Amino acid sequence: MPEKSYSDRFTRRGLLSAAGLAGAGIALPRRGVAAESTKPDPAITEVQDWQRQLGEGVDKRAYGSPSKFEQHVVRRNVPWLTAAPESAANFTPLHALEGIITPSGLCFERHHSGIAEIDPQKHRLMINGLVDKSLVFTMDDIRRMPRSSRICFLECAANTGMEWRGAQLNGCQFTHGMIHNVMYTGVPLKALLDEAGLRPNAKWLMLEGGDAAGMNRSLPIEKALTDVMLAFAMNGEALRPEQGYPLRAVIPGWEGNLWVKWLRRIEVGDKPWAAREESARYTDLLADGRARQYTFIMDAKSVVTNPSPQAPLRYRGRNVLSGFAWSGRGTVRRVDVSLDGGRNWKSAQLEAPVLDKSMTRFYLDFEWNGEELLVQSRAMDSSGYVQPTKNELRKIRGVNSVYHNNGIQTWLVRGNGEAENVELG
Ligand code: MTE
Ligand code: CO
Repeated sequence: MPEKSYSDRFTRRGLLSAAGLAGAGIALPRRGVAAESTKPDPAITEVQDWQRQLGEGVDKRAYGSPSKFEQHVVRRNVPWLTAAPESAANFTPLHALEGIITPSGLCFERHHSGIAEIDPQKHRLMINGLVDKSLVFTMDDIRRMPRSSRICFLECAANTGMEWRGAQLNGCQFTHGMIHNVMYTGVPLKALLDEAGLRPNAKWLMLEGGDAAGMNRSLPIEKALTDVMLAFAMNGEALRPEQGYPLRAVIPGWEGNLWVKWLRRIEVGDKPWAAREESARYTDLLADGRARQYTFIMDAKSVVTNPSPQAPLRYRGRNVLSGFAWSGRGTVRRVDVSLDGGRNWKSAQLEAPVLDKSMTRFYLDFEWNGEELLVQSRAMDSSGYVQPTKNELRKIRGVNSVYHNNGIQTWLVRGNGEAENVELG
């Protein structure tokens, strides 16, 4: 994998000059954003093409899609990361989103064996193992149980995984885009387990998918009984096939690989299945050769999405910096933003709703006069945990793992407004 390091260029000494300028850039008096109207603008004075004829009628777009002018806003993959697109991931275009909900068609996808296309009439969910009675649910059965909706983020444990050894991918879509934030509708897993009746020695569940991988994951029973949901809908409509239609597990705050899609079976056992199959891969190898196991919870993390490499600064004067923060341990309490590589910090404005285990939107208005910036954000969550720098993380975890990299991201914004993924020395 190609690797580039900016650490030579961005020593602490080099930072000082940029810092002075950037520090002064915050919170100058507001200037207007619109140009004063001095000469006629044809965009206003002329009749436009789209005003000359009737538009399409209501029978043309039975299921709507975005404007043709938004075609660049798509999930993207990095072909050299994986051998085949059926066992790969693509990335959410975080820099092009607003608010906190990820539109269904832009949710990143991670498949081990491609997308299963399942007929919901033929889909079944079986619960067996350490239960009083084995049960088989149809989708209709599941829809007759008490349902609820909640918004939460799903982050792949490998999100930002390419960045452990240094700045690598140029864009927050690629460095941070293995995350989405969706409103799910479904039933509590506890309701189904209650119906089957758990035996006293029930300690772990094995969730199995109906894809060609038959992907399975081990889940501790305490979490299953707390807030795990089996969802059949996302963002107000049926799950998309890419996201596990007709049924997926929703495991708020925990790493994405546990959120089994196309869910077809839950086996109740007394120990983890992880010990005997491929999910042993989801451990974090440390520098001394030991590995962290069962690192389920996603720690607090944030990223500035605008400006970023795919969203350069285009105007001097007034600008809005924006980004996302999230935590698997609760709500986001505060996000600090630095424009000078971590010397000075200013609290960003959090936009409501700020929800438990959900992505949270933050903003910082600032003035930009063409000076170089080193843009960073640092999240703090309701448990008091503060997002670490990448070097702080590396000291504890080494650089052998591709998982659970929640270090502070730095974007260098150049004088021409273009932004680049960099590492501070
Ligand atoms: N479930 C099945 N059945 N097969 C899979 O390949 N991938 C897992 C998880 N559930 C996977 C699965 C991984 S590693 C992640 S990060 C999430 O699904 C991704 O969910 P998404 O495709 O909705 O983004
Ligand atoms: Co994953």
